[in-house]
Amino acid sequence: MKYRRLGNTGLKVSEIGLGSWLTYGTAAEQKAAEACVAAAFECGINFFDTANAYNRGEGEKALGAALSSYNRSDYVLSTKVFFPMGDGVNDRGLSRKHIMEQCEASLRRLGTDYIDVYFCHRFDTETPVEETLRALDDLTSQGKILYAAVSEWSAAQIANAGGISRRLNLRPLASNQPIYNMFERYIEQEVLEVSRQEGLGQVVFSPLAQGILTGKYKPGQQPPAGTRGADDSVNGVIRSYLRDDVLDVVAQLNGLAGSLGLKLSQLALAWVLRQPNVSSALIGATKPEQVAENAKAVDAVLSPSTLEAIEEILRPVADFAPAR
Ligand SMILES: NC(=O)c1ccc[n+]([C@@H]2O[C@H](COP(=O)([O-])OP(=O)(O)OC[C@H]3O[C@@H](n4cnc5c(N)ncnc54)[C@H](OP(=O)(O)O)[C@@H]3O)[C@@H](O)[C@H]2O)c1
Repeated sequence: MKYRRLGNTGLKVSEIGLGSWLTYGTAAEQKAAEACVAAAFECGINFFDTANAYNRGEGEKALGAALSSYNRSDYVLSTKVFFPMGDGVNDRGLSRKHIMEQCEASLRRLGTDYIDVYFCHRFDTETPVEETLRALDDLTSQGKILYAAVSEWSAAQIANAGGISRRLNLRPLASNQPIYNMFERYIEQEVLEVSRQEGLGQVVFSPLAQGILTGKYKPGQQPPAGTRGADDSVNGVIRSYLRDDVLDVVAQLNGLAGSLGLKLSQLALAWVLRQPNVSSALIGATKPEQVAENAKAVDAVLSPSTLEAIEEILRPVADFAPAR
């Protein structure tokens, strides 16, 4: 495994991190969670991500239980706050009240004394950013979180937060967590550069486009049984990728990966890691073999001609906009 600094901080995170969205959080999935976490440690992965909203707290409980037999100092744990956790008007968002209450609740569900990286899951248009940033800074002073971060904030929102933190003498944000894969590239326009200037590292999610960029979904065929694409309880987003023009492109990328002696998953992960501002690529995994295969991506180096070949293959779907 290889490690990068999380933005300008001194924290080192593995280039591949393991997330728990849609994958862990029911009794049936607990064995998979434990096996995938064990595989992650074997590969040197030290970064684990979840969110309070994943299955309304069950994702945190599952990941916390799977991590409970490891030394707390051996891993970096992140979770998030923003999405509704109840029906009340204050059970959501980034108000001081909700952040403080949910941080406590996350600590309990995770079974830990502190959260390494605490992400604001989205931007909250109904709370002054000053209120949110000060609440995060207070949690940091209390030792309940070590680093404050955001997810899917725009370049302007990140720059504005940086200015406010400097003016109020608050600790700067450490990270942004956006989607980034060969089909979802909006961060290349502004977010990467503004984050670099502000000292945030990207922790990118869905780098395999939820499994599309493994090559297991084929044009003209039904999604294979047992995959996310075949499961109606979790395929709401991935379904939008299951069209022949996209899967034809994926088949060509698969051929290119094979010619380089790589799995497509490894090519896709190495491709996001080519960006120096990306600190870690967060994968999901339902099987330990997936973790082991994906972790090997850190050894792949993509030449300029390979990067050009990827651009050429992607050209026909440049305007494709997957569901969000
Ligand atoms: N901040 C946010 O708003 C946000 C949003 C989404 C996700 N996230 C974070 O990012 C993490 C990853 O997201 P994601 O699950 O969409 O990532 P992903 O890595 O793009 O997709 C993961 C899925 O692809 C399949 N897969 C992975 N490796 C494979 C391999 N080598 N061979 C075959 N199939 C493979 C597995 O699904 P099957 O085995 O079921 O087919 C796996 O669950 C989440 O767990 C979460 O922590 C954050």
